[in-house]
Amino acid sequence: MSTLPGPLSLVAEVTHRCPLHCVYCSNPLQMQAAENELSTKDWTRVFHQASALGVLHLHLTGGEPLARPDIAKLVAAGREANLYVNMITSGLGLTADRMTELKDAGLEHIQLSLQDADEEKANEFAGARAHAHKLKLATLIRQQDIAFTVNVVVHRENLDRLEDILALAESLQPQRIEVAHVQYYGWALKNRDRLMPTPSQVERSVQLIQAAQSRLAGRIQLQAVFPDYYARYPKPCVGGWGRQMMLIDPVGLALPCHAAAIIPGLEFDSVRTHSLEWLWQQSAAFNRFRGQSWMKDPCADCDRKEIDFGGCRCQAFQLTGDAQNTDPACSLSDLHADLVAITQALPPPPTQWVYRILANS
Ligand code: SF4
Ligand code: FES
Repeated sequence: MSTLPGPLSLVAEVTHRCPLHCVYCSNPLQMQAAENELSTKDWTRVFHQASALGVLHLHLTGGEPLARPDIAKLVAAGREANLYVNMITSGLGLTADRMTELKDAGLEHIQLSLQDADEEKANEFAGARAHAHKLKLATLIRQQDIAFTVNVVVHRENLDRLEDILALAESLQPQRIEVAHVQYYGWALKNRDRLMPTPSQVERSVQLIQAAQSRLAGRIQLQAVFPDYYARYPKPCVGGWGRQMMLIDPVGLALPCHAAAIIPGLEFDSVRTHSLEWLWQQSAAFNRFRGQSWMKDPCADCDRKEIDFGGCRCQAFQLTGDAQNTDPACSLSDLHADLVAITQALPPPPTQWVYRILANS
């Protein structure tokens, strides 16, 4: 019998379809087509298997999960499997009736994304006229008494409005605000020159966040994710490869993180042919960077390897060409200086964004 602990959370990318085209979308550049998506029945089976494996949290995401007409059935299936169900959404496609349907199905938490406090800019970053609709939704969500997080992704082009962004997020009266600096995967990497904040923006944002955390204490929980490229040590990406989280993509492939498909040589097995238990314990992709035996120096001999697990495998591959290398966000990496150089010599932004486009969305 295996002694490997099961995952705590299951990220269900129920579709890659989305009405937005965000310039920092973390979906893979090669997205999955709608006609190949898992059915309601497939997802229901997966949620029950997840619960049996020890999963506590189900995150329904995409793309835009509301693009699935059966999203309320998926919420209900998650609840029936005894999972805590969170939906991560842009809000497009959410109406009062649909909100009631989701609440009745057992939705417990909703995370709504905002792009900016400035409407024109917010719509530009989203590649769609979505901002005004999102603001109206906050009232609908509160009326349903569903736990509510406002998520804002920040970057070079909106950080100078961070005070306004925080004020807007606060005015929506969520229980939680999450301010996340862009992480450079997928479409964000394509737009990195335009999204990467300056050192002074990062410094100012740390001060503003700390001041807001004190002001909001006891009322709204404010969490922040700062940019890797400015860090001394890397983030423990996904809580360590194959340790806490598994992601199922729209067609049923099981991945250890949202960007894992960029790493050459990894092959992903499917929930169509294997149980979640087998995928977690046996699949080659989950075992590839599990534990510490794959680590090279400096990680192999480092006393932080149980804290950050060597950082992010996908970032290590993207920036060094070898996913086994130490994440260059780590100041102990030989290649850290190259990362610092990027932040210190930011090129003038290119004039055009590269927008996320799914051929059939
Ligand atoms: Fe983490 Fe590796 Fe850097 Fe040590 S050397 S701090 S384990 S990334
Ligand atoms: Fe893949 Fe960090 S995004 S390990």
